Amino acid sequence: MSHKQDFGSDLGAIFMTGRRLSTWVPAGLCIGLGAGLIATAQKVEHYEIASYGSARDWAEQLGLPEHAQMLEQTLIEEKHADKLLTEISHTANATAAV
Ligand SMILES: [Fe+2]
Repeated sequence: MSHKQDFGSDLGAIFMTGRRLSTWVPAGLCIGLGAGLIATAQKVEHYEIASYGSARDWAEQLGLPEHAQMLEQTLIEEKHADKLLTEISHTANATAAV
């Protein structure tokens, strides 16, 4: 079973982007690779934010407040992860640019 079959097609494409990055970047440029992997991880977080945000809205519209609350909590966690990755990427990108 391929990686694209393991995940949804969007997540599979993101996974393959990270995999291609690790193939294309020479070993001496591992700092640049780190920045690229962080960007790839952020793509996953953005995908999750869009997905959980939509699911939360649907739960609200269907009159399922407990489900909406759980999805809102997960959405908050995904946004927090994205924020942390942004902070890390600022450091990684600044280091890679030197
Ligand atoms: Fe996540």
